[in-house]
Amino acid sequence: MNKKAVSVALALSLAFGATGAQTAFMKGPVAGVHQVNEHFDKKVLNQIDAQRIYDNIDYLAKTPRVAGTEAEQNAIKYIKEQFESYGYQVELQPFTFYGYTQPTSIDLTVDGYAGDLNPVSFTYTVSGDATGELVDAGLGTKAALQNVDLTGKIAFIQRGEISFGEKVLNAAEKGAAGVIIYNNADGALNGTLGAHDDRYVPAVALTKEEGEALKAYVGKTASLSVVGAEAGYKDSHNVIATKYPTNKKKATGDVIVVGAHHDSVAGAPGANDDASGTAMTLELARVMKNVPADTEIRFITFGAEELGLLGSYHYVNSLSQTEKDRIVANFNLDMVGSRDAGDLIMRTLDGKPNLVTELAQKSSLKLNGTPTPYDIGGRSDHVPFAEAGIPAALFIHSPSEPWYHTPEDTIDKISIEKLQDVAEIVGSAVYDLAQFDKKKPKGPKVKASKEMIFEQSFE
Ligand code: BES
Ligand code: ZN
Repeated sequence: MNKKAVSVALALSLAFGATGAQTAFMKGPVAGVHQVNEHFDKKVLNQIDAQRIYDNIDYLAKTPRVAGTEAEQNAIKYIKEQFESYGYQVELQPFTFYGYTQPTSIDLTVDGYAGDLNPVSFTYTVSGDATGELVDAGLGTKAALQNVDLTGKIAFIQRGEISFGEKVLNAAEKGAAGVIIYNNADGALNGTLGAHDDRYVPAVALTKEEGEALKAYVGKTASLSVVGAEAGYKDSHNVIATKYPTNKKKATGDVIVVGAHHDSVAGAPGANDDASGTAMTLELARVMKNVPADTEIRFITFGAEELGLLGSYHYVNSLSQTEKDRIVANFNLDMVGSRDAGDLIMRTLDGKPNLVTELAQKSSLKLNGTPTPYDIGGRSDHVPFAEAGIPAALFIHSPSEPWYHTPEDTIDKISIEKLQDVAEIVGSAVYDLAQFDKKKPKGPKVKASKEMIFEQSFE
């Protein structure tokens, strides 16, 4: 579809929607310049198979898929192979990021102490083993350590006054082999050293209660061990399958991006967040593969979304301005199949309607009798597109399910009906935009009036 025509349609829909943007779209003429080719639309819609989406979620959500891990690599390989099996050429776009992996195990023993010790990790602690005399290092400030020899010893430090990172650095500077920091208030101490530093020594945290109990053991030998912690550069990839316009001569040059993130948070299998969007992207790619279209469609699964939208930022930042200008729409599918979440909603970064919400309202109205509402919201891969000025929206059910980012985000919570519904709404909207423009009516050119532009734009 021609981008200019769309902007005109959008501008007018806003101008004419006196009672609010959503009602404007409900009331306004919903079949635009792109009157959906009903026959073909049905053919595409009838092909959408939510069971296939479900099965791919099932496959992907066997384990968490944390960016930079082997599990993410396996997911990427699987997604690529699926796209290829539908006939796509696939590009893996690599990017690196600096990441930290939490320890897999932490251990602490103190000679003669028979009580319970449950040491926990500081984010950014280094791995390592340390055995030495337990030395009271006060608050671990430079002043407190001035006349203390910590060489080869374990610094026993109370929380307070300076940061955990500074305490560890001060102790390490004095030769400490390891650091224990205990809380100065009730409850667990879940701390961070702030950032990686090569000078760190292994550091663990204890509760106030544990720390106070250990005071009587200063002078004894303590042993601590941190295993599996790792900071460093890691690799992730975006997976890009491109459907080129079917007739080069009639190609508009416009590009639609349909995408989702394939990574998950640690400990969560991420069936809904976001194996659901990934599997739906695959299914839409499958059904659209041989559909005649004048618009390029890129089906992309992004890596490292959970670490700060890293994959989608990398993708958008890698495009020249000319390439960015070609992208007319980004449909972001993130958490699109939860049985226990609310209804479908779209979220745009500025809370305003755009081409994506307009097309999806039109298709949802046609399919379900009511247009899918939209609201303001970021927190996912549509953000970099929106920031680049590209019409973008997140498709999500709201309110979210209680399993979000938990080990319970599993396949048994996925609703096939919701998958089918979202896939149809998005598939139909994408097809509406991608299909060949209708031929312009023949006849003498007449100067366009406002009404005529309105007509052209919506009907
Ligand atoms: N799928 C979520 C975003 C989300 C969840 C939006 C619930 C609305 C309701 C996404 O994967 C996520 O968890 N994003 C992070 C932010 C991101 C910048 C790391 C979040 O929201 O904490
Ligand atoms: Zn997500």
